[in-house]
Amino acid sequence: MEIQLWKELLQPYEQAVTELTAKFNCLRDEFRKNNQHSPIETVSGRVKTVTSILEKMQKKGIDFDRLEEEIEDIAGIRIICQFVEDIEKVTVLIRRRYDMVVIEKKDYLANHKSSGYRSYHMIVWYTVETINGPKQIHVEIQIRTMAMNFWATTEHSLQYKYKGVLPQHVSKQLEVIADSVYQLDTQMSRVRSEIIDAENHSETRTNLIRDIVTRIENLYKVTSHREVEKIQDEFYRIFKMNDIDELKRFQRHLDVLAEGFRAQSVDYTTPDSGNGV
Ligand code: GTP
Ligand code: MG
Repeated sequence: MEIQLWKELLQPYEQAVTELTAKFNCLRDEFRKNNQHSPIETVSGRVKTVTSILEKMQKKGIDFDRLEEEIEDIAGIRIICQFVEDIEKVTVLIRRRYDMVVIEKKDYLANHKSSGYRSYHMIVWYTVETINGPKQIHVEIQIRTMAMNFWATTEHSLQYKYKGVLPQHVSKQLEVIADSVYQLDTQMSRVRSEIIDAENHSETRTNLIRDIVTRIENLYKVTSHREVEKIQDEFYRIFKMNDIDELKRFQRHLDVLAEGFRAQSVDYTTPDSGNGV
């Protein structure tokens, strides 16, 4: 393969990473807008570097003409979850989708690697629409908790430092840390429902306040400045109470007010309303 073709080869993979990162972020936002706990905490993606592709080809004896079939992680997506339980939820979301087909999975949760590595991997087929038409490519999706990610990134840096051959005392320490990470995830699972409740409460409050502000803004269109100012002062008073039920009551109150103002404005503008305007 000529060297200038690398850019062309990697282009669809760049596109897949951009699209999939956006798609998974949209899923997360959708959960949050619906006041639900999102099993997706953060999403990141990367395209393998030419160096890393060449190294893998050399290590595995892969020819250039088999590169795209044999190297399944040129495009990589990493999904980080808050709880171990979220990982399965993410896998279900992925399997349900029409825009990706799961062709392989590796469950390093049920069977962690001897290094201590834990994560859930999926290889999917994903189609990108290019100027030359559709192109189906492999994407590797890694799903893990924040704690697992902490361990994996640390271990990765150490592997790099020691050029892949960790001294025994370092691997021993990593095993101990892997155990702590496992304990941490287990403890997080125990307080999961409480954390989710707190998150939902905060998300509901944020959405409620956003809605109230929009409603107040809309009132500007149908009533006087002074009236809206009074309403806004009332809102700030209720906001300080830090009580969701009070905010909900105020939201309903705004509905009733808006309805009233709308009715009044209809009275004034309808030609046959009989008020002479
Ligand atoms: P390759 O694709 O050649 O890496 O072999 P494989 O398909 O058997 O690999 P696997 O699915 O086990 O791992 C793919 C990716 O998972 C790697 O590129 C890493 O990003 C990550 N990974 C796997 N094992 C480890 C590990 O022990 N430590 C860390 N930090 N990451 C790992
Ligand atoms: Mg692989």
